[in-house]
Amino acid sequence: MADMEIQQASRASLKPKAAEVFRGLWASLFYSQANGLKSVLVCSADRQEGASTTACSLALAGSEPAGAQRVALVDLNLRTPALDQMLGLKNAPGVGEIVLEGLPADQAAQPVGPGLDFYAVGKVGSNLLEILRSDVLGQFLRALEAKYDHVVVDAAPANQYPDAQILAPRVGSALLVAYASQTPREAVALAKKRIESGGAKVVGAVLNQRTYPIPKFLYRRV
Ligand SMILES: Nc1ncnc2c1ncn2[C@@H]1O[C@H](COP(=O)(O)OP(=O)(O)O)[C@@H](O)[C@H]1O
Ligand SMILES: [Mg+2]
Repeated sequence: MADMEIQQASRASLKPKAAEVFRGLWASLFYSQANGLKSVLVCSADRQEGASTTACSLALAGSEPAGAQRVALVDLNLRTPALDQMLGLKNAPGVGEIVLEGLPADQAAQPVGPGLDFYAVGKVGSNLLEILRSDVLGQFLRALEAKYDHVVVDAAPANQYPDAQILAPRVGSALLVAYASQTPREAVALAKKRIESGGAKVVGAVLNQRTYPIPKFLYRRV
């Protein structure tokens, strides 16, 4: 389990300390022999735990230095899209138009920087589960894996909606984000169980917003 202090991603850049943390997370997800993944779904047990911040920061760190890696960041939190605002980009067209209207995926790609493209949620209507289960979405994800070196997908909280459970096996692996001092252990365990029930692997966990009950300089000595 990764136990780390992270900082929030700002528009399209990371603070140096956050960049270092997320480069480490990127390497352990995508370059380690144990994992060696192509794509990862980022989600949490409940909302407001930092899943979108983590997905965004991970993709930004992974696409640095500019142009070294081609990375796609996909907002598949159809309930509460957030990445478009975090990045200062448009919320449409996106996955909704690709799946429901047959828009070619490259027409929905929004460049964030040299190695990073963002795909927004777009207009999704009300049949959200149909979109998540659709063949077109599966084809879209496979096409992204062919076009990019790595794909990072943001999803709705696993304990509140079936979305992450449906998406995880389609993406292949999942990273669980938990709000360090608040998420009950049982909630994380349930989220892990739900994600794994579909056959996907939970490849790691991020403890977000770690706080230090004792001063930091003392903490390092204990
Ligand atoms: N490590 C962090 N430090 C400070 N603020 C954070 C951190 N992680 C998330 N936040 C803030 O907490 C809120 C929820 O984060 P978000 O990533 O949108 O969570 P989720 O996707 O799990 O709902 C946002 O306002 C975000 O800016
Ligand atoms: Mg979110």
